[in-house]
Amino acid sequence: MTTLLYLCAAFKMALSVKHLLGIKELQTEDLHSIFHTARNFKQVLQQPVRKVPALRDTTIANIFFENSTRTRLSFELAEKRLSADVVNFSASGSSVSKGETLIDTVHNILAMKVDMVVMRHSASGAPWFLARHTDAAIINAGDGINEHPTQALLDAFSMQEKLGDLKGRRIAIIGDIMHSRVALSNIYCLNMLGAEVLVCGPPTLIPKHIESLGVRVEYDLEKALKWCEVANVLRIQLERQHKPLFSTLREYALYYGVNKRLLDALEKEIVIMHPGPINRGVELNSDVADGKSSIILNQVENGVAVRMAVVYLLSGATAEQRV
Ligand code: CP
Repeated sequence: MTTLLYLCAAFKMALSVKHLLGIKELQTEDLHSIFHTARNFKQVLQQPVRKVPALRDTTIANIFFENSTRTRLSFELAEKRLSADVVNFSASGSSVSKGETLIDTVHNILAMKVDMVVMRHSASGAPWFLARHTDAAIINAGDGINEHPTQALLDAFSMQEKLGDLKGRRIAIIGDIMHSRVALSNIYCLNMLGAEVLVCGPPTLIPKHIESLGVRVEYDLEKALKWCEVANVLRIQLERQHKPLFSTLREYALYYGVNKRLLDALEKEIVIMHPGPINRGVELNSDVADGKSSIILNQVENGVAVRMAVVYLLSGATAEQRV
């Protein structure tokens, strides 16, 4: 807490962007500012009073047009820990079901004097569209198959806690790369931090030309696990697959499911991550998800501190106003 107040008083910290739309738009310095601030907020969250008065005069709307457990709760908690006023909106049960457009929905929410919008939407690019049409700061909480920037930030933050500096570290992203916004944001973020990145999955779930993003491709799961220090295992996103891209879930689990037998055969320990929700027994077995190498719940814990940092740094208030 003392450190945080010192930081606030000493600097007018800010990011190079007004909105957090994607990792692709950030500078490496932004990543370091977010991680630095998140480390301080993580200390705050371990105090008996897990709250700071930083955003007392800020109102934030969390608008979710797609289902979420972790991201939504994590943003809400982060905002409340910063003392912001928070309103939550779900498309289900709203006037969206009566045909109201995205822009009308958001303009109506903003007319109630909202300063910041956290949005999840199934359409890739929706947060960019919103940012062009509103004055509020927009945070992308996941747009279609494009980006999920705060997930990548909390993933990198969690990897740093385990491994330190990620420069030269070998990170494998395993599973449904094609439909994963987590994969794309992770690739951008890890590249900026100097990590080596490999993607692994069946050929039908690996986008063509993905090597142009500076990643290796490996179709053999055992080779990928042997190569890496961290395996970030992704969910099979059946809801985004409009035609079958592999025979059966059983076959997928047979060739690409990460299980204890595979980890035991490695002559080293690797870190296991998953952004959630997990399809247990498909991409990840319970003996691995709940095993000693897993940092899945650390990722969830770190999500609150990282999102506090993002919201705080985008809030636009000066250091003097915040303290
Ligand atoms: N990781 C993640 O985005 O989870 P939710 O869909 O539950 O928010």
